[in-house]
Amino acid sequence: MSEDQRFFDFLKQRIGLDVASVGPAIIERAVRQRCKALHMVDSDHYWQRLISSYEEQQALIESVIVPETWFFRYPESFATLGRLARKRLAEVGTRRILRILSLPCSTGEEPYSIAMALFDAGFAGHQFKVEALDVSPLSVARAQAAVYGKNSFRGEQTDFRERYFSVVNDGYQLSERVREQVSFHVGNLLDPALVVNHVPYDFVFCRNLLIYFDLKTQQQALDVLKRLTRDDGVLFIGPAEGSLLARLGMRSICAPQSFAFSHSHDPMPAARPALAEFKPLTRPLPPPPPPSIRPFAPRPRPHTATPAPAPQKARPATAGASTLLEQIATLANEGKSSDARQACEQFLQLYGPQAQVFYWLGLLSDVQGQTAQAQSFYRKALYLEPQHSEALAHLAALLASQGDAAGALRLQERAARHERSVHSERKQ
Ligand SMILES: C[S@@+](CC[C@H](N)C(=O)[O-])C[C@H]1O[C@@H](n2cnc3c(N)ncnc32)[C@H](O)[C@@H]1O
Repeated sequence: MSEDQRFFDFLKQRIGLDVASVGPAIIERAVRQRCKALHMVDSDHYWQRLISSYEEQQALIESVIVPETWFFRYPESFATLGRLARKRLAEVGTRRILRILSLPCSTGEEPYSIAMALFDAGFAGHQFKVEALDVSPLSVARAQAAVYGKNSFRGEQTDFRERYFSVVNDGYQLSERVREQVSFHVGNLLDPALVVNHVPYDFVFCRNLLIYFDLKTQQQALDVLKRLTRDDGVLFIGPAEGSLLARLGMRSICAPQSFAFSHSHDPMPAARPALAEFKPLTRPLPPPPPPSIRPFAPRPRPHTATPAPAPQKARPATAGASTLLEQIATLANEGKSSDARQACEQFLQLYGPQAQVFYWLGLLSDVQGQTAQAQSFYRKALYLEPQHSEALAHLAALLASQGDAAGALRLQERAARHERSVHSERKQ
């Protein structure tokens, strides 16, 4: 057993984190950071501290979680929620209020977006309640404070900021009216008491958590989520998590770009729009990018230990190119896949091959279930930039889902080697 295996096992057991989803380097780095912070001589001493201290367990968990989130992430899903909730309200009338769960809620942007979307859909405060849970007490405390920086407002549609926030010294304070609708708690999706303590909800949001679990834990988590969703309710998940739900007996309600599922009978046929259907991914488990990197954010080219075999046409990004890269990120973040693709094509025509653009094209294909195309784009990104960490992680998951475990492992090891070399360079 590698000496780090016990930390991997601990995190899997406590929060479901699968080392393969983020790569070992992320967890190894977190352990090193905690050792350093506590002036521990080695990881054995740190292990002893960890198993005997609840606070330290929380500290390690805080250092590996990915709190990445922003307001109105996947905007179409909130429009879909508004439509479905109005229909549900017409059915229940004044008999009861609508109940919505956001788990994991991270720093609050998701549950508050739910509340704002329902206000915008014409709801009054007494007609709904949002409950929000996350395993990270720090994130929950930030959510309760409800003061947000610019990073929480991505995309072009930020008019809600003028309507629901006021400017304060260190950012934007959310209005009391929205805050009152949401109650926050620290909670773990894998806690067996969860289902016992919570009556099923009309709408459940569980986005960008299952991707960090292995298949067995995903099944366990989905069983919980199904039980937390009323028989006539709807479960919203992340774009990469759809195929898993389909396999576990839930079905897409076919609301484009909303990633919304119902139990396999048909509770809300009228919710089905005649537009193009959302196609769930054909593979089970694309991993997230490593926690240090945002999914769609433009990023500087990393320093690579091995120079990339850049083809002759490759050119560095100019100021115009950077602006276009930012536009691609914005479009992708807003879920405008075809506009994002067009912007990528435009970029390639104007500026030549760029790893980050091929990575985006890979991701956009991946989300639409075009796995062969996604694979080819990821490979192009890696040809230009062999250590492109997101492309490595996503291609590894794609290969794993196609049964090429050895190929997936090779890519993960490559990412881990790079992570280690960057770490040792930083230390020097
Ligand atoms: C990427 S955020 C997702 C936030 C939001 N749902 C979204 O999609 O924008 C992932 C969150 O999952 C939380 N988390 C990780 N493991 C968890 C668990 N077992 N139970 C509850 N929350 C967990 C982390 O603390 C982190 O805040």
